[in-house]
Amino acid sequence: MTTASAPGKIILFGEHAVVYGRPALAAPVAQVHADVEVLDSDSAGIWINAPDIDLHAELNTLPSDHPLAAVIHNLFFIARTSPFPSGREVRGEGRFPNLNIQISSTIPVASGLGSGAAVTVALTRALSAHIHYPMTDEEINAFAYEIEKLYHGTPSGIDNTVVTYAKPVYFIKGQPIETFKVGAPFTIVIGDTGIRAPTKESVGDVRKLWEADKARWEKIFAEMEDISFAARHVIKEGWIEMLGALMDENHALLQQLTVSSPDLDRLFSAAHKAGALGAKLSGGGRGGNIIALVEAGQAEAVASSLNQAGAKHTIITTIS
Ligand code: PMV
Repeated sequence: MTTASAPGKIILFGEHAVVYGRPALAAPVAQVHADVEVLDSDSAGIWINAPDIDLHAELNTLPSDHPLAAVIHNLFFIARTSPFPSGREVRGEGRFPNLNIQISSTIPVASGLGSGAAVTVALTRALSAHIHYPMTDEEINAFAYEIEKLYHGTPSGIDNTVVTYAKPVYFIKGQPIETFKVGAPFTIVIGDTGIRAPTKESVGDVRKLWEADKARWEKIFAEMEDISFAARHVIKEGWIEMLGALMDENHALLQQLTVSSPDLDRLFSAAHKAGALGAKLSGGGRGGNIIALVEAGQAEAVASSLNQAGAKHTIITTIS
């Protein structure tokens, strides 16, 4: 049996702008994770069990563009066709081995916590190890990015990067991976609206806005870039009290971009009423999560205020 897991993630600053080449900051959330087990099987075929999404199917019964099927097909293809260094031996060459793949995840789906990327990364790690085709983080990240395109259309690559490396990342599309320093750990409360909003749709709608008036939206993206840049500095220095205002500003820009929603804005206000230092939506928006920056001692109060305002669940996490 081979196992692997990958964490969830939050985007701290710069979502959407990151699709247009601006920087964004994101961090792993270890409290939620995707876990994959791969076992040899006596029965024919590759069986995938993913109870969280009600899936129990043999690989060949899934459409080939199904993200899980795509991971498995493409991984076997690469493992068989690429010249691999000595020591790598792909088992079951010429046919697929008989396997049982068990996928479970505590990351809510389509809520901006990177569930798709986490499942892809954990599955790729477990499966590649199981067939004796170990991949480096760099290879896994590049592979997961290709799979992300099936979920999102034009992803920036931030989700797969944070989830693969499980480190805070200052991300610019197409540039080498840069982690960022955290001068003083800080506490974030994540509040889930419970509304599942596909990132593909909000990203597509933003693209329509951008195409209709590039000058206007590039100006907004430039403001988001300034915020991300400032936030990286503030986080590095440990000036956490300054971070809240940057989050509020980023949220206001995301509202202009039409990716907030009444539910997200209600949670934003609830976080502030309970004493949060700042808050913003995180991820694609329209649903999904709010993140609120809090003094450690305020975390429970903010979480309960979010619950009262309708959050379906909350997570308290520390960025360090
Ligand atoms: O997958 P989500 O919902 O966390 O959103 C990713 C962030 C976006 O910037 C909106 C899209 C992207 O590909 O970077």
